[in-house]
Amino acid sequence: MSIAAVILAAGMGTRMKSDVPKVLHRVCGRPMVAYVVDVAHELTGAPPLVVVGHGAEHVRKALGDLADTVLQEPQLGTGHAVMQTRAALEGRADTVLVVYGDTPFISVETLRGMLDRHANENAAATLLTFRPPDPLRLGRIVRDQAGHVQAIVEFKEATPEQQSIRECNSGIMCFQAKWLWSHIGQLPVKHGEQYLTDLVELAVAGGRAVAASDADPGEVMGIDDRVRLAWAEAKMRARINEQLMLSGVTMLDPVTTYIDSSVTIGTDTVLLPNTHLRGKTIIGHGCSIGPDAVIEDSVIGDRCVVQASFFEGATLEDDVDVGPFAHLRKGAHLCRHVHMGNFGEVKNSRLGPGTKMGHFSYVGDADVGADVNISCGVITCNYDGKHKHKTVIGEGAFVGSDTMLRAPVTIGKYAVTGAGSVVTHDVPDGALAYGVPARIKDEEQEAEGN
Ligand code: UD1
Ligand code: MG
Repeated sequence: MSIAAVILAAGMGTRMKSDVPKVLHRVCGRPMVAYVVDVAHELTGAPPLVVVGHGAEHVRKALGDLADTVLQEPQLGTGHAVMQTRAALEGRADTVLVVYGDTPFISVETLRGMLDRHANENAAATLLTFRPPDPLRLGRIVRDQAGHVQAIVEFKEATPEQQSIRECNSGIMCFQAKWLWSHIGQLPVKHGEQYLTDLVELAVAGGRAVAASDADPGEVMGIDDRVRLAWAEAKMRARINEQLMLSGVTMLDPVTTYIDSSVTIGTDTVLLPNTHLRGKTIIGHGCSIGPDAVIEDSVIGDRCVVQASFFEGATLEDDVDVGPFAHLRKGAHLCRHVHMGNFGEVKNSRLGPGTKMGHFSYVGDADVGADVNISCGVITCNYDGKHKHKTVIGEGAFVGSDTMLRAPVTIGKYAVTGAGSVVTHDVPDGALAYGVPARIKDEEQEAEGN
C-alpha cells in the first residue's frame, strides 16, 4: 500500500495573535511543523507535501528541502487545503494521510496503528480521535447507537447536546485515495470554508465505513494559542531532556535545563541549572556546563568547564575552561587547555593551546599563539571607527596588564609588554615594549649607546 502524507500548514492561526504563521512558532528551537514533517517522512519514506498559504514564503524557507509544498490561496478551510494537493497526488498513492501542522507530538507508531486499522476495516476514511480533559472548541465525534462514526461536528455548529460529547477530532485522518478524490469536490461551504471533517458525513451517506482509533491526548492536541505553545515547550523539553539523560548526560535540575532538539551532548557531561543549549550546538564528553550558561550554535570539546557564560558561534577544543561571566562571540576559537576567566570577550579570534586570559579582557580579530599570557584588562583596539584590523600575538608572549594593542599590530614570540603600555607598532620576537606610546627597550638602549 503506498501512502502519501499531506500536512496542512496554510492557516492563519488567528488564536496565536501573531505576525508569524502559527506553524512556524518554535517548540524547543524548531518550528512546530518541522516535527510533523519528520514523522511523516519517517512513516512514508519520502518528504511529505505541505500545504502553505498564510506566510507561505516564510514557511517554505523554514522547511527548505525537508518537504514539497503546494500553495493554498486564499485559505478557505481544511477541506479546501487538501483539494490543492489533488494535482500532485491523484493516481500516485492508494492512501492519503492528512496531518495538521500544529500537532508536533504525533508519533510514527500512532500513525501506523491508524493506517493498519484503516486497511483492516476497508474504510473510506479513518480518524484519530481523543478525549482531552478540556475539549474546548474542538470538533466532536458523533456516533450512532451502535457506536459507528456518523459525523464530525465543529464546535460552532454543534447543538448543546453535541457540545457535551467528550470524544474529539484530532484532525489526523487517512483516506482511500480514490474515494477521497472522487468526493472532495462535494464538500459544502460553511462560513465561507470547506471543512475536511465534512468528508465523514459524505462517506456515511454513501454507505461507506468510517473507522476511528483512539489516541493519547498528549500526542494529538493541536497548538492553537500561546497557552498551548507553552505547554508544548515544557512537554518537548521534558522529552528531549529524558532522552539525553537516558543517553548518559547528568542534569541536576531538568526543569531548568533548556535544550533545543538539534543539540547533541556526549556522555558524562553534567548540566547545571539554568543552562540553555541552542541551535546547532555540540557538546563533548565529560564537560561541566552551567549554572547559568547560554550556548548557541557552538562546538565544545571533551572535558570542558563553562560557568555562567554566553557563547554564540564559538568553538572550544578539549580541556578548555571558561567563566564565570565570559562572552564568546562568532568565530571565537579556544584551543586545547585555554583558560579564560571572568569578564572576558573574544570575537573572531583564535587563542592557541594553553593560552591564559584570566580577567577583564577583550580580544577581537586576533590570532593568538600557544601559551600566551593575556593579563588583566588587555584590549585589542581592533576598530578605528571605519575598519576592523587584525592583531597577531606570537607563541609564549606575555601581554602585561592593561595593555592596549592598537591594531593592526604584531607582538612577536616570547615578547613582553609592560603594564599600561599602548602598543602602536610591531614588537619583535623576544623584545620588551613599555610606555605610552610603547617603546622597545633594547632599541632604546642601543640608541643611547648602553
Ligand atoms: C481543526 C478541526 C477540528 C479538530 C481540530 C484539532 C476542521 C474544520 N476542524 O480545527 O475538528 O478538532 O482541528 O486540532 O478541520 N489550515 C490550512 N488551510 C486552511 C485552514 C487551516 O492549511 O484554510 C491548516 C492550519 O494551518 C492548521 C490545520 O489546518 O495546521 C488546522 O487548522 P486550525 O485552524 O488549527 O483548525 P482547528 O480550528 O484547530
Ligand atoms: Mg488547530
